[in-house]
Parts: sequence; C-alpha cells; structure tokens
Amino acid sequence: MEKIDLKTIKKRSENEFKKAVDLKELDEIFKKYLGKKGEITQILKTLSKLPNERRAKIGKGINELKNFLEEKIEDKKSYFTKATEDKEEWLDITAPGKKPVVGHLHPLTLIKRRIEEIFQAMGFSVVEGPEVETEWYNFDALNIQKDHPARDFWDTLYLKGGNLLRTHTSPVQIRFMEKNEPPFRIIVPGRVFRHEATDAKHEVNFYQVEGLMVGKDVSVANFKAVIQEFLNRFYQKEIKLRLRPSFFPFTEPSFEIDINCIVCGGKGCSTCLGQGWIELMGAGMVHPNVLKNSGLDPRNWQGFAFGMGLDRLAMMKYKINDIRLFYSGDLRFLQQF
Ligand code: PHE
Repeated sequence: MEKIDLKTIKKRSENEFKKAVDLKELDEIFKKYLGKKGEITQILKTLSKLPNERRAKIGKGINELKNFLEEKIEDKKSYFTKATEDKEEWLDITAPGKKPVVGHLHPLTLIKRRIEEIFQAMGFSVVEGPEVETEWYNFDALNIQKDHPARDFWDTLYLKGGNLLRTHTSPVQIRFMEKNEPPFRIIVPGRVFRHEATDAKHEVNFYQVEGLMVGKDVSVANFKAVIQEFLNRFYQKEIKLRLRPSFFPFTEPSFEIDINCIVCGGKGCSTCLGQGWIELMGAGMVHPNVLKNSGLDPRNWQGFAFGMGLDRLAMMKYKINDIRLFYSGDLRFLQQF
C-alpha cells in the first residue's frame, strides 16, 4: 500500500483554493478533491481495505482534512457570491458604454428632406395639404371636367360620402392660391393614392412633390432654370434634361420632363429601357381656368407648376429597381440607408 501523505494533500489543496478567483474555479477544485472521483473521496473509499490500526489513524486524518476543505470552500464560496451580488449594485463609470440601438430615417424621408432643402435655398416655401380630398379640389378646380376622359388618367380611390384619396398633390395648388396673393413659390411634398395594380414601378400609395411659382411674368424659362438647378444639386452632377410636349388639363402648354438616364448616362440600359431618357415629372404653365378657380385674375398673374414622383427620384438616386421595397418594411433593405 502506498503511503498516504495527508499533509501534502492538505498543503496542495489549500494553495489551490487560495488561488481560485471565481466560483467556477472553486467548483473545479471541489470536484478534484471532494467530488465523486475526487482525491479525498477515493482515499475514503479505500479505508476499509486498510488494517485496523492504520485505518483508524488515516481515517481520522482524512476526515479532518475533508471537514477542513469543506469549510474553506464554504467560506470562499460565500465570499464570491457576495462579491458578485455587490457588483450588481456597483457602477463602473469607466467601463465602455453599451451602445443604444437607434433607428434611422426612411430613405423616402431622407429624399424628401433633401428636396425641401434645395428648393428652400431657391426661395420656395414648403406647404402641405390634406390626403383626403373633395372632387372639387382634386379634379374640378384643376379644370378636369366631370365626364372628361382626362379623369381616367388618375385611377381614383373614392371614399363613402363622396370624398376621395387625392390622386396627386395638385389640389394643394388651388388651396394655396385661394388663401395667398402672388407672387409666391411653393413646393408641396405629400402622399398620393391610386387604384392601381402594383408592380416594380407602381404602388397604390406613393409620394409626389408639387411645385408652383406664380408672379407677374413667371415663364417656362424660369421653370427650366429652377428645375435644372434642382436636378444638378439633387444628383450632384450636371443633368441633361428635355421638355417634351404633353397634356394636362390644368396646365397650358404642358410638358413632360425627361432626364438623361442616371444609371447609363444616356447610352441605354434596362432602367431606361434602352431609351437613354427617364421620364421624371409633368409640368406646364398654370391654366387660366385654374387661376380663376382659385380666385386669381389670369390677366394679372401667370406661373408654372410641376409634379414629380418622389419615389422615382429616390429610385434613380439610390439605383433601386422596385418601388415596393420602400413600403415593404424589410430591414435588410432599409438598413442600407
Ligand atoms: N399632377 C400631375 C400628375 O400627377 C403632375 C403635374 C403637376 C403636371 C403639375 C403638371 C403640373 O401626373
């Protein structure tokens, strides 16, 4: 039978306990000595095989050692437990802070703010109007007569009681002119609605920015200069644009504004469908009837108006190929802005 040196075991284990820095280490040392396969447990198991005399001597010693270690462990354990409890109350002001998770603005909001900034720098005020409109403001006052086929341009969502969800921001032209004397220049960013099947280019709700500038001699040349300046600043490069004859009941003459495709620079690509040009907005000189309907005398005043799709501007700027992404709430998309 090998010699059982209790003194050495005691010294060694005590040393180890002293060095233990946390509950986990303490637990490992406990297992090493007092666990099922622990050193002391093993010795206890072999006691029965020893001759009586030695058994009594070693038995006494090993039991003392066992009690001694158990006591030490308990002491240190409660010390550690207390230390962790105390720690919870303790605030380390030098510790690096936890970064709070903050949200960020939606790409359409970013674009809207940028557009407002640019136009404000050119002396335009930002004006808003209601999303629920009357037929008068959305159509009649804008020179779109009751049974005029032009109404089919705008697939309208009608509400019970005869009102409707505005199909464009143009009704705010009327609302503003009713209450304000020219000269003035405004833009009207806002949500509009159309009864439409959705696809990559169409949504039932989207955003427009209306523009209106009225004065004694406001001209198409002024319009072109303002829009050119806006586009250059918005896209941060020289943009080539063209005015194409078009028709809107509330402007005369009317035109469509195209710009050189931002993606391919005009060579022709899938975004511009090989055309090199992208249609960006409708515009024209405010129709005399619209001025009249707003209480202004067309012999004294004239001006231009335009309406552009905010979503489309954003899609071109960020090279997004599906308008539905803006409204999907998909964080994989939104977190890229
Ligand atoms: N309201 C028109 C549209 O929604 C755009 C437009 C605005 C055209 C102002 C001319 C003048 O298509």
